[in-house]
Amino acid sequence: MVHRTEKFVKETLLDAEGGHDWMHAQRVRKLALYIASKENADLLIVELASLLHDIADSKFNDGDEEAGPVKAREFLLSLSLEEPVISKIENIIRNISFKTQSDPHKIQSIEFKTVQDADRLDAMGAIGIARAFNYGGYKNQPICDPEILPQLNMSKEEYKNSKGPTINHFYEKLLLLKDLMNTETGRKMAIRRHQFMEIYLEEFFKEYNWPGEF
Ligand code: ADP
Ligand code: NI
Repeated sequence: MVHRTEKFVKETLLDAEGGHDWMHAQRVRKLALYIASKENADLLIVELASLLHDIADSKFNDGDEEAGPVKAREFLLSLSLEEPVISKIENIIRNISFKTQSDPHKIQSIEFKTVQDADRLDAMGAIGIARAFNYGGYKNQPICDPEILPQLNMSKEEYKNSKGPTINHFYEKLLLLKDLMNTETGRKMAIRRHQFMEIYLEEFFKEYNWPGEF
């Protein structure tokens, strides 16, 4: 089943943007399996959900937020999995996104928490930086524009349509992730990636403002 899922995801993501491609799915899968092993999460659900989590991101499907979960369900039915397993995976994919600020009172499964932490870790650190600038280039966003300040507390719509400079995205999302980790394992892994982004930003602004003081 895992092998068939891998093949399906690779084919589906063949022309994907570099930050949401097969390699992203592969990294999230590895991170998620590690977290799952520490947090006693169900390995099959975690592995299939992490592989399938970005097969039809709404950003690349005219904003259709049901495209991903629907496509994943269709595929999972072809694997003849049992309904409770399918709906668990489908729900992870439906709610994983940063924009979909899930209801804080809703109790999420450990499998959901695991896959969401893995996806968030891949948006942080050196790889997170690479993905942000790749996405910004794909969207033709400026790298940095001191005239445009970061927008905190954006609505979901504003976040999705943001054309702001990529450097602002660090303040709007990437630096917030360490405090949003769901699991103890995820929280520990986030520390180094967070610190690296802080060091990177310090260097970035030193160069940006050279020879002035920052
Ligand atoms: P999710 O897929 O969890 O909803 P996003 O779509 O916000 O999260 O982010 C997925 C990847 O795309 C991340 O690596 C993120 O940094 C990058 N990304 C999203 N929005 C922007 C943006 N406005 N500028 C730069 N990178 C972005
Ligand atoms: Ni993802």
